[in-house]
Amino acid sequence: MVQLTLPKNSRITTGKTWPKPEGATNLRKFQIYRYDPDSGKNPSVDTYFIDMDACGPMVLDALIKIKNEIDPTLTFRRSCREGICGSCAMNIDGINTLACIYGMDEIKGDVKIYPLPHMPVVKDLIPDLTLFYAQHASIMPWLETKTQRPEKEWKQSIEDRKKLDGLYECVMCASCSTACPSYWWNSDRYLGPAALLHAYRWIIDSRDEATGERLDDLEDPFKLYRCHTIMNCAKTCPKGLNPAKAIAHIKQMMVERVV
Ligand code: SF4
Ligand code: FES
Repeated sequence: MVQLTLPKNSRITTGKTWPKPEGATNLRKFQIYRYDPDSGKNPSVDTYFIDMDACGPMVLDALIKIKNEIDPTLTFRRSCREGICGSCAMNIDGINTLACIYGMDEIKGDVKIYPLPHMPVVKDLIPDLTLFYAQHASIMPWLETKTQRPEKEWKQSIEDRKKLDGLYECVMCASCSTACPSYWWNSDRYLGPAALLHAYRWIIDSRDEATGERLDDLEDPFKLYRCHTIMNCAKTCPKGLNPAKAIAHIKQMMVERVV
């Protein structure tokens, strides 16, 4: 899938080409976005060469190798290295995905790496996700109850628990929201696919007792209805989730409760 790969405030120049490792016979070329807002300089794309015979198979392995052995100033987020924490999301070869589970054998030619599209950049491959997290917080991502708290636990049938499959696995990587044109243009008011997937996860949780309030809060021309079913979210999600489907279910619930 081809996506806009330029982050906000980008007028990109050609950057530094770093020397090739000596004696390597299996070289791979990497073109990586560099930007330090504090420097006052325009963003650039630096070129690095990696000896693939001395590197792990994932894009994150190459980034760590570059940082450790070539250029310690290259900046990116990562933590779990297992596709669980969601912190290493970036745009690789035109696709928003997780660097730690994206194999370099999936990429033809040079490896091009940019931060998630259309977000302010903190530094290099790190987008500013402040708004994204605030939108997540706004949907009340917790169990909201009114009846008296049970002594041990809020029970749930196996069937009701199954309704959360395809939703709870979200790792909040922001790949989907930053692949969504509607979110690019209206992120100040449209909640975006990730926050709405989480909203639906709590709306359909059989234990939650705030469904009405949750739907009321989304009854807004922008928060929910700026989803135009473009489907970039489902195509790009590295966890194989379908936020567009969750959004469609919320819209259906809105209609059914009005009728
Ligand atoms: S739905 Fe998928 S792409 Fe979107 S934040 Fe969750 S894991 Fe990432
Ligand atoms: S490092 Fe945690 S998802 Fe990639």
